[in-house]
Amino acid sequence: MRLNNKVAIITGSANGIGYAAAERFIEEGASVFIADFDEKMGAQAAHKLGDRAYFVQTNVADRESVKSLVATVIEQTGQIDILVNNAGITRDAMLIKMTEDQFQQVLDVNLSGVFHCTQEVIPHMIAAGYGKIINTSSVSGIYGNVGQTNYAATKAAIVGMTKTWAKELGRKGINVNVVAPGFTETEMVKKMPEKILEQMRSIVPLQRLGTPRDIANAYLFLASDEASYVHGHTLHVDGAIMM
Ligand code: CAA
Ligand code: NAI
Repeated sequence: MRLNNKVAIITGSANGIGYAAAERFIEEGASVFIADFDEKMGAQAAHKLGDRAYFVQTNVADRESVKSLVATVIEQTGQIDILVNNAGITRDAMLIKMTEDQFQQVLDVNLSGVFHCTQEVIPHMIAAGYGKIINTSSVSGIYGNVGQTNYAATKAAIVGMTKTWAKELGRKGINVNVVAPGFTETEMVKKMPEKILEQMRSIVPLQRLGTPRDIANAYLFLASDEASYVHGHTLHVDGAIMM
């Protein structure tokens, strides 16, 4: 049991990669707070995952909502050992057509959301002298992707934030790393035109998309003490799509 007695917050874990991570962390002994916008899916996820799963409806884009999440976790358990900043959205459009709203919505969730959650959680990690922060970038943020000006900007920014926090928080006993998934079988990719998805799949040397569990296993490694000397690192879990 690699996460015995640990308490984790995983944002966006009602579904997709976050849900697989909640499942994986619970298998390894952690208690998991599912911090998700979607009330129905969140409640169902907590029910399916059993006794050590708790749902707290949260909008990561909203500072007050994140404050209330952190207060709930501290009240219930007195500790936060792991934060996985996994929640993310897409609003794809070609640059020439992208609206101000599409641009801003993605920044609010994918970028401000990570800032809010980390800033609210770190005082507790600093006080404990222990913590694991795992952020989520994307192949789109590393190499760029047609139709994703907004999303790629946030996912590239996450890498810079991770490295900055690694420099600020290392001496406080807090590891900060980022996972950069490739195209992974979740609702997010189901919104893509099938022709473009097929084109992406065909250029992956492993000749398949990632599964949510492939990414969850990378989160698990970085959340565990096996990765205690891995810091400020970008872990590509993408079947080598852009190698
Ligand atoms: N590579 C090269 N060319 C592309 C392309 C690509 N990936 N995607 C679109 N194009 C081309 C089209 O073939 C088309 O070319 P022509 O003008 O010569 O016909 C042109 O760009 C315009 O494309 P559309 O006709 O599709 O334009 P649209 O305005 O109707 O739609 C779009 C644009 C919304 C961006 C749509 O193309 C789309 O959804 N593309 C997929 C975007 C994508 O890859 N999103 C990833 C979602 S999953 C995710 O984000 C997870 C992650 O981290 C990876
Ligand atoms: P998904 O769309 O399947 O699930 C995202 C979850 O986040 C949903 O449960 C949703 O309700 C929740 N969410 C959305 N907005 C929220 C908000 N404001 N506050 C709290 N929760 C919110 O997405 P998926 O595919 O599981 O993605 C997880 C992460 O992985 C995202 O950061 C995404 O950008 C990233 N990623 C995904 C890839 C993929 O191909 N699926 C590839 C690379 C990165």
